Amino acid sequence: MELQGKRIVLGVTGGIAAYKAAELVRLLGKQGADVQVAMTEGATHFVTTTTFQALSGKPVFTDQWDARMANAMAHIDLSRQADLILVAPASADFMARTAQGLADDLLATMVLARNCPLLIAPAMNRQMWENPATQRNVAQLVADGVQILGPASGEQACGEVGAGRMLEPAEILDAVIAFFTPKLLAGKQVLITAGPTFEAIDPVRGITNLSSGRMGYAVARAAQQAGALVTLVSGPVGFSAPQGVDRINVRSALDMHAAVMAQVARADIFIGVAAVADYRVANRAAHKLKKDAGGIPPIELIENPDILAEVAALENAPFCVGFAAESQNLEAYAQAKRRRKKIPLIAGNLIQDGFGGDDNRLVLFDDAGVHPLNPAPKSVLARQLIEHIANLTGKN
Ligand code: C5P
Repeated sequence: MELQGKRIVLGVTGGIAAYKAAELVRLLGKQGADVQVAMTEGATHFVTTTTFQALSGKPVFTDQWDARMANAMAHIDLSRQADLILVAPASADFMARTAQGLADDLLATMVLARNCPLLIAPAMNRQMWENPATQRNVAQLVADGVQILGPASGEQACGEVGAGRMLEPAEILDAVIAFFTPKLLAGKQVLITAGPTFEAIDPVRGITNLSSGRMGYAVARAAQQAGALVTLVSGPVGFSAPQGVDRINVRSALDMHAAVMAQVARADIFIGVAAVADYRVANRAAHKLKKDAGGIPPIELIENPDILAEVAALENAPFCVGFAAESQNLEAYAQAKRRRKKIPLIAGNLIQDGFGGDDNRLVLFDDAGVHPLNPAPKSVLARQLIEHIANLTGKN
C-alpha cells in the first residue's frame, strides 16, 4: 500500500487511451489511494462514467452545472483537498486550455482552482504531439511547474508510429508513487548490481545462481524514487528496468565486475544485490560438449573477483551495502561477511523467506547493531533499506 490515504483527483480527457485510465483507477486504489474521477465531456464518448464509478466507488464528476450538487462549489473544495491532480490521458486540447489558464469545463476549473501539484500523462496522435503549438503548451506547462509523464513512442491507435502514446497504467502508477516518495537521496549517484550471473561451460551450458533479480530491481526503483540517479548492472533476468533507471546488461561475473569498475568512480553509494557466482569455468569449451566424446567432461573452476569487497577497498570508496542470502545462521554469517568485506551495512535474509517471490524478510546489520524489518513486499523493504542508507550516509 504505497499510496495509503493519498487523495488523488484523476482527470480523464477525450482520447482513446481513456480506456487505460480505468485500469489506472484500479491500480491507484489497490495501493490505498482515495481516487475521485472527473471526466471531460469528450472522455465520456470513449468510456462511460459507470465504468469509473464502479472502479472508484464514487460518483464521477463531469458537469460543472450539475444541479444535483448540493453546493456548486463542491468540485472546487474537492480539488483543494486533493494531494494531487493527475490527468491521464491528457489530450492536446486539455493541455492547450490548461496552458492558457482556461476554466471552461469542470476539470479545467478544478485544475485552475487547485493548490496541489498537477501531473499529466499526454496521449495523442504523433503529429498533434509534434505540432509547435502543442510543444509550446508543453513548455508553458513545464514552466508553470506541471510534471509531464511521457508520452511514450510506439504504435498508435490511428495506425501511425511515433511519440504520443500514453504511458502504461503501471508506469503512471510508478510515477505517482515516486512523486509522493521523500527525496532522501536527491542527486546522489547510486550503483546497484542485481540478478544472477551466468558462467558459461560451453556455448549452450552454464553455471548460475538462483536469483530472480526482484530484490535488486526493487532497490533500484526505490533509490530512483528517492531522487537518486541510478545505474543498475544486471545479470540475466526476465523483466525490464524500472522507469528512470539506467541499466547495463551483463552475463558473467567478469562482465559485471568490468561494468561496475567502469562506473564506480562517480558513485556515492554502491549496493551489491547480485548473486554473483563465486567461481567461473577455467576450461570453457569453444564448441558444444558432446556426450559421445567419451567420459564425463572435467570442469575446472577458478575464483571470480569479489566485486563488493573490491569496491569497498577502493581509495575513494562509495558507501557500500551488501546482501547476504543464507540458509541458516543468518546473523553470524551476515556479520562475518560484513567484517570480511569491510562494509558498513549488510542486508541479510534467509533464502527460505524470500526466494523468487514478491515478499521477503530482511535484517539489517550495521555498526549500531541489528535491525530486523517486518516481513513485507520487496518494494516496501527496498524503501526501508533506502531510508536506512539515507540515514547512515546523511550522518557522514
Ligand atoms: O560472499 P557472498 O557471495 O556471500 O556475499 C554476498 C554479497 O557480496 C552480495 O552483496 C553480493 O552482491 C556481493 N558479491 C560480489 N561479488 C562476488 C560475490 C558476492 O559483489 N564475487
